[in-house]
Amino acid sequence: MLTPQDQLALISAANRAPSVHNIQPTRFRFDDDRTITLLEDPARRLHIGDPAGKDNQKSIGAALEGLMLALSERGLGAELSKPDDGVVRLRLVTGATADPLAACVETRASWRGMFDRTARDETQTLARLAEACPDLHIITAPDAIADLARFYDKVSLEVVQDRAYRGELLSWMRLSRGNANYWRDGLNAEHMALSPFEAFAAGIVLGGGFPLLNGIGVAGPLMAESAKVRSAACVALFHRPADEPELDTGRRFHRVWLEIERLGLCLCPMSVLGDVPHAATRLMSEASLPATRKLVTAFRIGRRPANARKSPRARLPASELLVAP
Ligand SMILES: Cc1cc2nc3c(=O)[nH]c(=O)nc-3n(C[C@H](O)[C@H](O)[C@H](O)COP(=O)(O)O)c2cc1C
Repeated sequence: MLTPQDQLALISAANRAPSVHNIQPTRFRFDDDRTITLLEDPARRLHIGDPAGKDNQKSIGAALEGLMLALSERGLGAELSKPDDGVVRLRLVTGATADPLAACVETRASWRGMFDRTARDETQTLARLAEACPDLHIITAPDAIADLARFYDKVSLEVVQDRAYRGELLSWMRLSRGNANYWRDGLNAEHMALSPFEAFAAGIVLGGGFPLLNGIGVAGPLMAESAKVRSAACVALFHRPADEPELDTGRRFHRVWLEIERLGLCLCPMSVLGDVPHAATRLMSEASLPATRKLVTAFRIGRRPANARKSPRARLPASELLVAP
């Protein structure tokens, strides 16, 4: 029997999962003692950046995985079904054992700053990562990482040429603490590793200042993240079967991230590299990945600097994610 407190605790745990732009599209309905339904909040969609809703499906998959992990800690498992499009139903079963990755959910977080460049040799850690995650193609050669870093900046600049894309991205950025949603959802300045001045500048670069700054060639350098990419211990291409449903890809996305957390490493996804077809094609070809695979994203992975401050998580309260049966 799940009490109302249990339900909220399960939702909070599930909603620690990563979601695209931190939009948190998953909603939870406890239909009866044994049944939980996950739904998509139709108001939380990236109509420009994700018109087919694939990133939302991945985000719901990540939350589903988070829920399964939290259930496992309570000795519960679930049989899954998809009765309607976009709806996932869990029939709870007893007798599960705690999933070891559940212990990493609390500390997992995106890291968008520089990595610790004095970090020790990561060869052995990355070998363990490769063993745990055969769906990661791990790139460690500094030249190859530098090349990828330049390419990432180029593709990022390409996608922000679209004014509507910039507008949508900005609408999920929380650039000042005065924003009422700063700790609720979206990407806040602290989580993007931006100082107050950098956050102010980001608003201008991605906002009304873009045409001018782009025209004189400074928008790219102002947005560049290549130094951060170069500070990574590796860049890992996350690839999955081309015909895998996005929901299942999202479940695996979360687990791979938790494996990386378990090894003491942290990461930042660079999803434009998977989303922009010509970028994905180039990286797949360079990595000799067959057409039976899809490039989901690229992760830059490294060690968080010892003195890095970890901000509180920005999340909606669990009560807002609960849908009445
Ligand atoms: C499908 C998907 C794609 C993502 N792509 C990016 C990305 O390109 N860049 C980025 O910085 N974060 C990306 N993220 C991470 C989310 O922004 C992050 O999970 C969210 O802001 C919540 O923060 P947290 O991971 O620290 O809990 C992605 C997450 C998901 C689920």
